[in-house]
Amino acid sequence: MKTVITGGAGFLGCKLSEALLAQDGTSELVCVDQSKPAMPVTGVNYVQGDICEPGVLDTLIGEDTASLYHLAAVVSAQAEDDFDLGMRVNLDATHALLERCRSLPEPPRFIFASSVAAFGVAPPIVDDDTPARPLNSYGVEKVIGEYLVGEYARRGFVDGRCFRLPTIIIRPGVPNKAASSFASSILREPLLGQPTACPVAEDLAIWVQSPRKVIANLIHGHDLPADAWQDGLRVLNLPGITVTVGEMMAGLEKAGGDKGLVSWQHDAAIEAIVGSWPKGMITTRSTQLGFEADENIDAIIGVFLEDELGN
Ligand SMILES: NC(=O)c1ccc[n+]([C@@H]2O[C@H](COP(=O)([O-])OP(=O)(O)OC[C@H]3O[C@@H](n4cnc5c(N)ncnc54)[C@H](O)[C@@H]3O)[C@@H](O)[C@H]2O)c1
Repeated sequence: MKTVITGGAGFLGCKLSEALLAQDGTSELVCVDQSKPAMPVTGVNYVQGDICEPGVLDTLIGEDTASLYHLAAVVSAQAEDDFDLGMRVNLDATHALLERCRSLPEPPRFIFASSVAAFGVAPPIVDDDTPARPLNSYGVEKVIGEYLVGEYARRGFVDGRCFRLPTIIIRPGVPNKAASSFASSILREPLLGQPTACPVAEDLAIWVQSPRKVIANLIHGHDLPADAWQDGLRVLNLPGITVTVGEMMAGLEKAGGDKGLVSWQHDAAIEAIVGSWPKGMITTRSTQLGFEADENIDAIIGVFLEDELGN
């Protein structure tokens, strides 16, 4: 059976492809993305296309599609800068994908990558029952996507599962247009001996997870049986850990990086977006369902050193 990943040439799409192909049972893996992958994964069928274009989804998703991981998105700062693009990709394409799935004879598993940006007006530490009241376009688009996936699941059109991802660090390569992009840069660049700028204060706290853990969690969430989900509760906050920028700097030094390479250049717009996200979460439901967090910031830095730098 076929698995489709939208945004499959992106950071998490590539990591997910590698992990799925390493497992038994994925007979065909199709990644659709408007961009080409920086490092193509052997065994993946890449389709370059815009999921907003009519026809692209019809060609990609058919009767043989058992699972769909919907990762394509316009990320936070870009969605804030370009309202129309964010609405088109994050909202309209999500709806179109769900409609395409609805037309299939068997409802596929539909995994939706949501975000802690779902929370805006919220206490610094949120729990499973904290309402999602986002404060920026990206967060609003993700929350509407969650509602749509939940409704299509209630109707039996898809077997939908939404996961609110922490900020994933350390992203390899070049910074992207996510407001949280600095959270990777301030570790990655110094570990590579390069200078970088930090737009937020040292006491800013973020809810984070490593790429390894989030991919394991997405696959775990896909593989859980349908009866693990209570009706109407198709959204989970994923476990993570809270780290301040200062703690990240301490972890950097411990790993042999030079924190002198980080210059402090305050950016009020970035701090406003990231500062509106939760600093931490009590993730009772996802923890009970077997989802996992990293141990600490040193473990997260260790994943980057091993997976990206081969140390
Ligand atoms: N990485 C994180 O820290 C994080 C945190 C929370 C949520 N998420 C969510 O996880 C998902 C994956 O994130 P990522 O970090 O891999 O992002 P990414 O930017 O690396 O990948 C997203 C991919 O989507 C593609 N894309 C965008 N618009 C498209 C379109 N119209 N048609 C086809 N492809 C399109 C992009 O080309 C890109 O390759 C996103 O939905 C993101 O919102 C990520």
